[in-house]
Amino acid sequence: MMMKEVSSLSPEVIWPAKVSHVPKDIFVREDIYREELKRIFYGAEWTPVAHASEVPNVGDFKTCLVGEVPLLVTRDEESEINVMYNSCSHRGAQVETKAYGNKRRFECPYHRWNFDTRGKLIGCPLKPEDSEGFSRADYPLMKPRVAIVHGLIFVTFSEETRSIEDFLDGYEGKLANAMGGDGRLVLLGYHRLTLHANWKTYHDNDAWHAPLLHMAFRMLNWQGGKGSQFVNDTGHRGFESMLSLPKGKTMLNDNSLIEYKEANFERGSCSLHLFPLFAAVKHLDSIGLRFVNPVAVNKTELHFAYFGREDDDEEMRNHRIRQSSNLLGPCGLVSMEDAAVFQRLHIGGHAPGHQIFQKGMRGQYEIPTEFSQNDESANIPSWEYYRKIMGFEKEAR
Ligand code: FES
Ligand SMILES: [Fe+2]
Repeated sequence: MMMKEVSSLSPEVIWPAKVSHVPKDIFVREDIYREELKRIFYGAEWTPVAHASEVPNVGDFKTCLVGEVPLLVTRDEESEINVMYNSCSHRGAQVETKAYGNKRRFECPYHRWNFDTRGKLIGCPLKPEDSEGFSRADYPLMKPRVAIVHGLIFVTFSEETRSIEDFLDGYEGKLANAMGGDGRLVLLGYHRLTLHANWKTYHDNDAWHAPLLHMAFRMLNWQGGKGSQFVNDTGHRGFESMLSLPKGKTMLNDNSLIEYKEANFERGSCSLHLFPLFAAVKHLDSIGLRFVNPVAVNKTELHFAYFGREDDDEEMRNHRIRQSSNLLGPCGLVSMEDAAVFQRLHIGGHAPGHQIFQKGMRGQYEIPTEFSQNDESANIPSWEYYRKIMGFEKEAR
């Protein structure tokens, strides 16, 4: 699905005519970052904020940010999911500060207004004579638009945003695959990591680097993989990577870390990166959702949430926890180098010039449409979508 080009009042950027070139200054400029919050994170896109299995019981909650906007996700007494702005309906103070927990009543400390799990104002120290015409019913916590797909909870702050079906643009099945098949998940735990890099560096994480930067991907034969990449023209992309397990001795003393234990599920790996900033990643027996949020032009928060299946036995559960932490978490064998290299990209981004995408390019001026598993050209359609949202004009050829 194509979106219309936005061109009014965008920050000044010289965007090269060659689609293989992306200006480095867009990663480090404060004015562009502020504009991205407005046009992308508060604009007409959907952002995943939680999976329903993170709040399985009545009263469970989770807080998070989209850009700088605080949100509160709850499971109410009817077992329904609610997403509310985490901002008191009185004077706007942040209501809940814990990352997650369980409660039936949320109290704002400033003037003690109380809200139930649906955001309804259920108590405040105001007598009828204190305020004429005041009714609690008029002051619930406000709510953004919400959509839930296979248990994944999306929000958008714009009334203009297309439906969630149009946003996913046919990738609903790929999302289910990347979340382990059916969305019936059990939360195993979290890791949180601050990247000292711009948010686009995370979204742009390309396939080519996988076996070059990450020794562990080499061990899993990414290089010779028979997988594929898929992309659309609204910024989403993903992998189906068919890794294979090494035979014999590896760099590990104990190969049980990289075993597949799960029966009846397609072997290999799949991931889906949704624009602007989210990834569902299934590698081996690890099922992970990565909720990512920009914090500043040079800082990005990465929240890993790891899941098992409802019918896992204890051995399988422990295996998934071990594999999620030691293979795919922030210190995991597969992914530990990313944070360091992202920081180096950010430092290097202050020097002039462009980021260059070459692996898999057929010509330099046309948006590529076909990719192999390891091509970095698969990132180009997403950059084109970004350029259009930001209203950056291309230089003439
Ligand atoms: S700001 Fe929350 S009670 Fe006043
Ligand atoms: Fe990586």
